[in-house]
Amino acid sequence: GLGDLQGVIDRVGYLELLGVDGVWLSPIMRSPGADHGYDVSDPRDVDPLFGDVETLRRLVETLHAARMVLIMDLVPNHTSVEHPWFAAAVDAGPGSPERERYFFRDGLGEDGSLPPNNWPSVFGGPAWTRVTEHDGTPGQWYLHLFAPEQPDLDWSHPDVGADLDETLRFWLDLGVDGFRIDVAHGLAKPDDLADLPDDVEIAQLVVDERDARWDRPGVHDVHRRIRAVVDEYPGAATFGEVWVGPVDRFARYLRPDELHFAFHFALTGAPFEAGAVREAVDSTLEASRIAGSTPTWALSNHDVVREVTRYGNGALGTARARAMLLVELALPGIAFIYNGAELGLPSDFSIPHDRLTDPTWERSGHAETGRDHCRVPIPWEGTRPPYGFSTADHTWLPMPTSWGRHTVEAQIEDPGSTLSLYRAAIETRRSWPGPRTASVEWYGAPSGCLAFRRDDGVVCALNTSVRSVPLPHGEVLLSSGPLTPETPTGAILPPDTAVWLRPH
Ligand code: NOJ
Repeated sequence: GLGDLQGVIDRVGYLELLGVDGVWLSPIMRSPGADHGYDVSDPRDVDPLFGDVETLRRLVETLHAARMVLIMDLVPNHTSVEHPWFAAAVDAGPGSPERERYFFRDGLGEDGSLPPNNWPSVFGGPAWTRVTEHDGTPGQWYLHLFAPEQPDLDWSHPDVGADLDETLRFWLDLGVDGFRIDVAHGLAKPDDLADLPDDVEIAQLVVDERDARWDRPGVHDVHRRIRAVVDEYPGAATFGEVWVGPVDRFARYLRPDELHFAFHFALTGAPFEAGAVREAVDSTLEASRIAGSTPTWALSNHDVVREVTRYGNGALGTARARAMLLVELALPGIAFIYNGAELGLPSDFSIPHDRLTDPTWERSGHAETGRDHCRVPIPWEGTRPPYGFSTADHTWLPMPTSWGRHTVEAQIEDPGSTLSLYRAAIETRRSWPGPRTASVEWYGAPSGCLAFRRDDGVVCALNTSVRSVPLPHGEVLLSSGPLTPETPTGAILPPDTAVWLRPH
């Protein structure tokens, strides 16, 4: 009920049908699974839950035979508490060289019972946990920007980089095509580990430069190091998770000797409103212009509320998500699709609390349910859970009983389905020449609408207003919803709809 690598191999035919060029897998390395694999205990092995290294090799071969690439998720910011380094560090005690690979510090206050600084963890609570020393007494504290099971590595320690080099080569030698790099903006910590100002805005997207935990100058040395190894493998690429808002700072990660690509998240975070979408697009394009790099786009991922739900849920959310797909796929650059978006899946906020697995749920004192809502397995066929996802009747997150209409089986032959729209959009996009520039030309558009032209002439228009507007002239290549009724003055673009056109 969990999904595994053989399962992915078995579904490569579906990926071909969908038309994608590759797959990014969330972490599959050995992990106790405190944060869904983002707590790695052995970075150079596959977790037995998912298969083994040989199965991964077969997956790579199968994808390559189908002309697709495989991108692995790499977690260089932290390890699992079950990583041998961490176990050795706890064991070796204060002042030992073993503790220097992490951030072990004495606590504050007379008895050291207060954390070394005021940093919060991204998942709630303090970013420090106290260990018990050998003699049973409360001991030093270690830093974890995420869950306590994810101790942060100290990147100023030479072992840390050397070990990552080895990990990169291990997977690249096996044939993988690149890496999505987790927390790519968080790898270097300030030397003094000073308190954050009380009024600093703590947000996942780093907007406050005073939050000294992210986007330190030293982070770029790490990316240069990674790039040097990856460059030994022609064609391999890195995609950084870079939650840095200001475009000039974001662009630094994309210098020629750093990351190949990065997620900017502006579009992911934008509401369904033409002005906000345009602003998001412009900021990502501006970052690419500064860096001379290719932009990437995503409407969702495994950390955020699915787009159907974000844009309004139900039929409205679905119409808007379909419209935004046409915007995303018309933009120049690399488009990422989060699994299940092509089936129009909503986030599932009905998961019973006792089935939640995201560490955020416990860490926030049950104030936040976390990200499980967007991680429910995708439904393949049939009318009842687990919809062909597993031969077990139990899946790791329960699947809603209402998802029969979302299955691949229910959608594949239906020309009006969201899956059919994805397939048509991807196929149409494939027929276009690759964009020559990472820019678009904006057209004047009625209020609440946007329209841009790609450098190959294709126009994308989106209506986020509540009124129908005249459709720009041209041959309609694809629309996210019906364009009827036609008025005496020509075709119209209804609300919550986008269209691709080739102007006459
Ligand atoms: C970002 C990943 O996308 C998220 O799922 C994870 O919890 C954190 N990094 C910590 O590794």
